[in-house]
Amino acid sequence: MIVDSVLINAKAYLKGQIVDCSIAIEEGKIHKIGKETQMPSADEKTNLHNLLVLPGLIDEHVHLRDEGKAYKEDFVSGTSASAAGGFTTVFDMPNNEPVTMSVATLRDRMALAARRTFVNVGLYSEFPRKVSELQDIVSEGVVGFKLFMGSQIGGLNVDEDEALQDAFKEVSPLKVPVAVHAEDKTLLYANEEKLRLAKKVSLQAFEQAHSEEVELKAIERLIKISASIDIRMHFCHVSTAKGVEVISEAKKTGRKVTCEVTPNHLFLSASDLGRYGQLVIMAPPLRNKDQVKALWKGVEEGTIDTVGSDHAPHAANEKVASSVWDVKVGVPGLETTLPLMLTEVKKNRLSFAQVVGLLAEKPAEIFGLKDCGQLEQGKNADISVVDFNKKFKVDASKFKSKAKFSPYDGWEVVGKPVKTYVNGNLVFDDGEIVAKAGSGSIVRGEF
Ligand code: DOR
Ligand code: ZN
Ligand code: ZN
Repeated sequence: MIVDSVLINAKAYLKGQIVDCSIAIEEGKIHKIGKETQMPSADEKTNLHNLLVLPGLIDEHVHLRDEGKAYKEDFVSGTSASAAGGFTTVFDMPNNEPVTMSVATLRDRMALAARRTFVNVGLYSEFPRKVSELQDIVSEGVVGFKLFMGSQIGGLNVDEDEALQDAFKEVSPLKVPVAVHAEDKTLLYANEEKLRLAKKVSLQAFEQAHSEEVELKAIERLIKISASIDIRMHFCHVSTAKGVEVISEAKKTGRKVTCEVTPNHLFLSASDLGRYGQLVIMAPPLRNKDQVKALWKGVEEGTIDTVGSDHAPHAANEKVASSVWDVKVGVPGLETTLPLMLTEVKKNRLSFAQVVGLLAEKPAEIFGLKDCGQLEQGKNADISVVDFNKKFKVDASKFKSKAKFSPYDGWEVVGKPVKTYVNGNLVFDDGEIVAKAGSGSIVRGEF
């Protein structure tokens, strides 16, 4: 048999170890992993010269924008940034224009994505206006429902426990996870109102409004009201020690509760506000060093399941304003997440196993992507090839993302993505996108 391609001289992460091997690819799947001498003949042979080979990374938290927000990012730029950052699958958040929250908006967005993406894309939907629509949205193909608790974005009234409970009951048999932005709207709005009235417009005022309590309240409330309902609840960008604690307590009772942390909340803290200013305004905000320490502990102990970038691109002029309340929240992250994490492996703070767990295995497991997350015969040939020994400086001006700014600009890191294969196709090679737009596919989980 002649396979499509063979990658030789790989140092691949296979089930917990880095192994010298070759990988044969056939029809988008991993056909075989073994010694070079055991490889079948191939149409194409690529020598990886001992580069690090990781299972294609999955970022479950990306704002790809496009449609009405295409000036910030679109499927082409956002999935180029994904491939350039070593991600082969990304999940798109629904706070778009129009908001993804119905079969119709989902269908339009999917059709657009199918033509424009370089990597595999899963779409989230917000909760629709009527719970009876949930089934149809799932049938159309989503990776999960997103629930913004900090503002009214979807069709579900986040102020009413009963409405939330009804929606969770309806989602339960559909199995898809509910990914939560946990900030309590009532408390957040009250805090903000008070500060605005007092004419507070500083970075610190934003931090005060989005207090630790705001996060904790939302997490506690959701855990409580979903207690008797069998749903998968994934807390996005957890940023507080208490938040992690409450989630890990819920896990101990056997509930399907998981959580994510962003690199921003691990690598930056409130003490960096002076240095980066409004650029690092994000929700949830940067926390003090004790909270950051607790998040690292959560990562090291495994109570935090995944790292998601929360890639939140904005136009440069939206990141500065005379009042903090007018600054758009969030920073791009697709092209910095992997190098930031691998730099910690170089420093022996994290292991490859932890990084692969956080960025590939766990997101695949939580979201039911059965063919992703591991380098194994029969799985998708989604492969991230990285130069682990390459020291380089982050240069945001070279990002594929439209958002060419980053708090990590100029940071020295290791672990440069050099080749990204999606479904067996080379999509990113040595700094360039080499595939056609539309080469990625739309993915959904299986439960
Ligand atoms: O920082 C953030 N950016 N937090 C959010 O909740 C939204 C996101 C965005 O869409 O820009
Ligand atoms: Zn969020
Ligand atoms: Zn987000």
